[in-house]
Amino acid sequence: MRVLSGIQPSGELHIGNYLGALRQHVEFQDRGEGLYFIADYHSMTSVRDGAERRRLVRDVALDYLACGIDPERSILYRQSDVPEVCELQWILGSVTPMGLLERSVSYKDKIANGIPVDHGLFAYPVLMAADILLYNSDLVPVGQDQKQHLEMTRDIAARFNHAYATEVFRLPEPHILEDVAVVPGVDGRKMSKSYDNTLRMFWPEKKLKKAVMAIVTDSTPVEDPKDTSQAVFQLWSVFASADEREEMFGRAKAGGLGYGDVKKDLLARILDHFAPMRARREELEKRPDDIEVILEGGARRARAIGAPVLAAARDAAGLG
Ligand code: ADP
Ligand code: TRP
Repeated sequence: MRVLSGIQPSGELHIGNYLGALRQHVEFQDRGEGLYFIADYHSMTSVRDGAERRRLVRDVALDYLACGIDPERSILYRQSDVPEVCELQWILGSVTPMGLLERSVSYKDKIANGIPVDHGLFAYPVLMAADILLYNSDLVPVGQDQKQHLEMTRDIAARFNHAYATEVFRLPEPHILEDVAVVPGVDGRKMSKSYDNTLRMFWPEKKLKKAVMAIVTDSTPVEDPKDTSQAVFQLWSVFASADEREEMFGRAKAGGLGYGDVKKDLLARILDHFAPMRARREELEKRPDDIEVILEGGARRARAIGAPVLAAARDAAGLG
């Protein structure tokens, strides 16, 4: 079974990305042949600084490796090192109805929020379909927010197969990570690179402490019962067992619990949880050339898998 997933280098990865993506990708390594990539072409719709993109790609590669992607077992690569994906995007784009892309939630959201959109953003789901179909991926683990993109991928693959009376593309199965709760940011909204409300697991302790202590809470006095739906409790829960959670929520509802104490404990838990990964990351950071070697080796392996699929698609479409 071939498992594929990607993550955009559009900002520093945070605890939400770790729980909703990175950690899942690491776990999926045991389930089959894994392809994990850094979607730098996709990031072009938001990051408009080349040096910044390179830095972010390197950071995401380090995060992936630190969190447990094993480049011996899995294929870790940079999307733009496999330019075939762009050719496939064109091939797929020509069987993708405009209406399909117009229904894309991510596109509609941008329009609704008055954010200017370019063709890259409009065509984003087609590039994502190319990412997936190029390797005949069987399973694609992603968060809820990517569910529609996977449905589009299946639709686009079926349309190509139908149009050219072929079975070139395998329809991938989505694996939607339903059980992963949305991690709130320090302001209570969804933790997101776009909201400046993140906690990055690998920030220096001082910076992390400042951000944790700044988590927004209501102004209930210490002695009163607390509303456990607040971000501080939800974040804390991420790093606690079910029993610990029950105990903490019981104390919160009884009154007498200060937010400062919950925050201190949360900080300790974050530091503790990520300590081995942080150490591994610091080690890797000292060997930047190794990161390049890993990414280049990954791209070579990915291209070898993708080449025959692209060749078959070109052949079916009468290209070349
Ligand atoms: P961001 O919102 O920070 O830009 P992305 O949209 O690039 O993050 O998300 C990459 C993946 O990380 C998503 O598909 C999702 O699975 C996961 N993810 C992002 N934010 C969260 C969150 N707050 N809680 C849980 N998972 C998240
Ligand atoms: N769009 C995904 C995100 O923002 C990243 C991505 C690009 C991806 N191509 C993919 C994920 C292919 C899975 C499969 O999170």
